[in-house]
Amino acid sequence: MRPRQGMRYSGYAMNFNDRISAADYDRRLSAEGYPGGLVDYIERELDGCGSVIDVGAGTGFFAIPLAARGYTIDAVEPSMYMLEILQSKIDAATAPKIRLNNRTWEDWEGEKRDALICLHALYPMRDPRAAIEKMTRYADRRIILVRSDEGSRNLSGLLREMTGKIRDGGPFIELIRKALAGLDMPYSEEIVEQRRTSVFYDLDGEARYYCGHLGLKEDRLEWIRGIIERNTVRREGRFEFEGLYRDFMVTF
Ligand SMILES: C[S@@+](CC[C@H](N)C(=O)[O-])C[C@H]1O[C@@H](n2cnc3c(N)ncnc32)[C@H](O)[C@@H]1O
Repeated sequence: MRPRQGMRYSGYAMNFNDRISAADYDRRLSAEGYPGGLVDYIERELDGCGSVIDVGAGTGFFAIPLAARGYTIDAVEPSMYMLEILQSKIDAATAPKIRLNNRTWEDWEGEKRDALICLHALYPMRDPRAAIEKMTRYADRRIILVRSDEGSRNLSGLLREMTGKIRDGGPFIELIRKALAGLDMPYSEEIVEQRRTSVFYDLDGEARYYCGHLGLKEDRLEWIRGIIERNTVRREGRFEFEGLYRDFMVTF
């Protein structure tokens, strides 16, 4: 398989379409305890549903536990590297429950399902409004999760603030509200909050990662290292950062 070209990550610094970034995503989010209790919040909204389209399924942080809980999942994911990691997590019990689709949501074609989830996967889409409209046609219950920067506390946000590298992705929740109002679609939204502790062992490696992630030059490495060190707790050779993550969960 060749990687799909032309994916746009407007306002979103992370690229998922290469082997290293995909592995990095999976490793870093696992180390942070993602998705934690978010799976329960999502499952609560799936009450009465049996089949689910997972748009931008990534490395399977939701597809796998939901399949293990009995849901049938159509995982739609354009990055073959993310999909390979998802595939590696499938076991004998979940295999019959998961179908993999190496497609963008825009290109995907398939059958209507009971529900659709799009969890932190709207950011890279070329035309989020059109993507939302398509969601309304492929499931009767749809759940979108987007971050709320307000009130969240995590290392990435802290470093962005201190370096002036504020995300230019804009408030996605506004875009969703507008799209749904334009479609005359009733919806509910709530903030879901998670405390998750990131654990790492290599302070230099972490500083290098954030320098790259934020597009900073090498000469800022020591400074970044210092900020991370001051904001983490050192315990038995490891560094811990207790993060607070706030997301908007929109159901329509
Ligand atoms: C931040 S990750 C979230 C993955 C997963 N939902 C999770 O919560 O771990 C965003 C995912 O959306 C995928 N993606 C990017 N553009 C997409 C598109 N046009 N259609 C569907 N998924 C897309 C990326 O490849 C990536 O795997």
